[in-house]
Amino acid sequence: MRNLLRIKDLSNEEIIELIELALELKKGRKINLNRKIYSSNLFFENSTRTKLSFEVAQRNLGFDVIPFDVSTSSVSKGESLYDTCKTLESLGIDLLVIRHFQNEYYKELENINIPIINGGDGTGEHPSQCLLDLMTIYEEFKTFKDLKIAIVGDVKHSRVTNSNYEALIKLGAKVELIAPETLSDFKTRKIDDVIGEVDVCMLLRIQLERHQSQYNNEKYLEHFGLTHTRYNKLKETSIVLHPAPVNRGVEIESELVEADKSRIFTQMENGVYMRMAIILKCLEGEKK
Ligand code: CP
Repeated sequence: MRNLLRIKDLSNEEIIELIELALELKKGRKINLNRKIYSSNLFFENSTRTKLSFEVAQRNLGFDVIPFDVSTSSVSKGESLYDTCKTLESLGIDLLVIRHFQNEYYKELENINIPIINGGDGTGEHPSQCLLDLMTIYEEFKTFKDLKIAIVGDVKHSRVTNSNYEALIKLGAKVELIAPETLSDFKTRKIDDVIGEVDVCMLLRIQLERHQSQYNNEKYLEHFGLTHTRYNKLKETSIVLHPAPVNRGVEIESELVEADKSRIFTQMENGVYMRMAIILKCLEGEKK
């Protein structure tokens, strides 16, 4: 593993290795890389969690994080993504994390010779989010085999769905997509048909930056979101995930964001350790 671009590039063994390394780091395993490493995080779409959690992960590993701000960079003068990345490589940056609005932006970066980690490509994939979701599920259930997982909401525009569906099926989970008709290209069951059966209820944010919602917030919550009534139908052992940012009162009732079964903030905590693990595996792969 030299880059992390798509979840399909990882074998099940590599996914489990990443989860185990992230869990060890969470338990306090210390890493000493014994060399100066520069990283830069290029975010062409907004982010709170992914950008800052990669930055915390890099600082935990002792990196110098070189700031890159799209709005004050030469991107505004027409510099291409490739030339921006080649420039940073020439300056001595050792690793890049990139979020970009263009699906598969990384295809034009094949001649970049430093590791690239995909922080999200358009409606394509969000592999580091997927891996931290997998870590959170594995931490809870110690397996993926036969777990019933519902991914609920805006599946049509969600890169989180693309990565998670692929990985969870490959790992042996039983995954069902649940969406309003306008937010999916196919007909699905309703949340009320599955809520009492699932081990994991993974809610999705409506991606309003990619389309106009046809629902007002209350109607969406009433028909498709996690209300108290639905929460009370979850099994005792079930957990609730959401990649966040959360539209409180839309995908989920506000008070449920920190309810007992919610692991939404655990996902964010786990994100730092998983991103440390991803970076370490990419640097290890680079040496081979
Ligand atoms: N989950 C996620 O990708 O959040 P950000 O957009 O804040 O990075």
